[in-house]
Amino acid sequence: MTELIVALDLSSTAEVEAAVDQLGDTVQFYKIGLELFSAEGPAVVRALKARGKKVFLDLKLHDIPRTVERAVSAGAELGVDLMTIHAAGGRAMIKAAADAAAQCGAKAPKILAVTVLTSLDGEDLQEIGVARAPTAQVEALGRLACDNGADGIVCSPMEVAHMRSVLGKDALLCTPGVRPAGAEIGDQKRVATPGQAVRDGSTHLVVGRPVMGAADPQAAARTIVAEMRAADSLSALSDASDHEKD
Ligand code: C5P
Repeated sequence: MTELIVALDLSSTAEVEAAVDQLGDTVQFYKIGLELFSAEGPAVVRALKARGKKVFLDLKLHDIPRTVERAVSAGAELGVDLMTIHAAGGRAMIKAAADAAAQCGAKAPKILAVTVLTSLDGEDLQEIGVARAPTAQVEALGRLACDNGADGIVCSPMEVAHMRSVLGKDALLCTPGVRPAGAEIGDQKRVATPGQAVRDGSTHLVVGRPVMGAADPQAAARTIVAEMRAADSLSALSDASDHEKD
């Protein structure tokens, strides 16, 4: 079943507590990014875990293998469920992150790799010495990450169907840039509806403003989850009919 992750693009634990109160049982999974973690540190992770929530710690780690290994272990100790690294950190760094997670047994966080930031275009890549076009770079880094122990990647809704075919059925594909039909797009350039993202192969949808900025955030989250469940059922039906054909 696909999971909704609500992005807590906030700057204090007090705001987080209020958001979690408001969203109640509808949302079980939250993303903490650099802004919130820099402001509040591990305390905000502990606050969410104390309320029985799952945590996606999106710090996009990119450092020497030993440092990344230790950061992943520290995240696992906090009970983090998903963490991000940059695939561009290279094979040894990816392996170090995956090995550190694997050593945590039942507490092991899943490791997602970031490939090419959506803020970078082909020209930016050239400037930092990457000759490949963005799509080819996403594909190459996605393979590198998953071949070296990462559980999956973060990718845009426009890439998800292709990356599902590249990485196979078991990879986690976590997709931001999700907008329910008719919602404000904001600064996102390439968006898909929750149903489309799930049908294309996303396993986790990261949604911020369409939930947090809604007049009734819990109702907005409920609508997104309903759309995800409908798409899950369709995917399950099509998997079953594929098996029958085998
Ligand atoms: O408000 P919105 O739904 O656009 O929030 C999406 C979340 O996903 C934000 O936390 C944003 O930083 C993150 N994100 C993104 N696009 C990426 C990577 C991460 O929007 N390519």
